[in-house]
Amino acid sequence: MTLTLETVAGEGVSSGLALTVREARTLCAGIRHVALADPDGRALPSFTPGSHLAVDWAEGRRNSYSLTGPSIEPDHYAISVRLDENGHGGSRWIHDLQPGQTVRVSRPRSAFAPVLTARHHLLVAGGIGVTPILSHVRAALEWGRSFEVFYSFRDRQGAHVDELAALCGDRLVTVSTPDALRETLVPTLADQPLGAHVYTCGPAPMIAAVADWTRDCGWPPGRVHSEAFGSGPLPDGAPFAATLGRTGMIIPVPSGTSLLEALLDKGINVPNLCRQGVCGECRLSVRGGRIEHRDMFLTEDEKASGDSIMPCVSRAVGDRLELDL
Ligand code: FES
Repeated sequence: MTLTLETVAGEGVSSGLALTVREARTLCAGIRHVALADPDGRALPSFTPGSHLAVDWAEGRRNSYSLTGPSIEPDHYAISVRLDENGHGGSRWIHDLQPGQTVRVSRPRSAFAPVLTARHHLLVAGGIGVTPILSHVRAALEWGRSFEVFYSFRDRQGAHVDELAALCGDRLVTVSTPDALRETLVPTLADQPLGAHVYTCGPAPMIAAVADWTRDCGWPPGRVHSEAFGSGPLPDGAPFAATLGRTGMIIPVPSGTSLLEALLDKGINVPNLCRQGVCGECRLSVRGGRIEHRDMFLTEDEKASGDSIMPCVSRAVGDRLELDL
């Protein structure tokens, strides 16, 4: 997808790459496709299908996008980005890129990889969530894996439709409404071989719907994988204090500031990528206190256990939280 994981302030992309815009073109209304290449024409590091690339678009600001192109020693990295008029400016920056410009990016990070032992890959994309699905399709073809694709998009707003059709042939089903997706996908979910895995990427309501349908059809949770766009706008939340259990240091977390931002502000290095509760990169262990989980990464069981938090979006219930830091 253009998994547009929009991030706010943060560290720059470390140990990354300086790449040149080789191509920038409009795919369909509101979606821009950008290809980035090594300025000296060298092959780029290979990546796992479904990986993201973090793009520095301003000092201390970066967004992560799913890679859509070939994954083995590619001669370019390709991303497709939907313009978010209400975002922080990262998608606008990408849309304004022109060939020849230099862009600083991370090395690709895997977050939505195919399960190599799966007997069949059922790939479900919604809107710009098609981007990692495209990467999965390329890999499935490369390795001769069994797959099929369901792609839901609004009229004239489908990115990569022709390319997917050429790659998938009759293994691609396109629909334009949630009802049509349910009508075509549910019978397929009900008739899958043992060992099939389903991968969903798209808006949160679609992911929740697919999760419900898989449950109703008896799919084991371990065979259902998803990647969402992010939690969307979240309320500021009440202030609280985080205690670092190993040192006793107390870190105030004001309303409107994430726990992750508060930790980084105090010089405590917490790995992070999406800052939208999606990628799992920032996961921390919790020793005490109750958590208001607002992420889409932890499972319901993990949330219920209360021993992990995604500090980029989640907060304390009450005024205290003790971290295993
Ligand atoms: S940084 Fe991705 S889940 Fe927190």
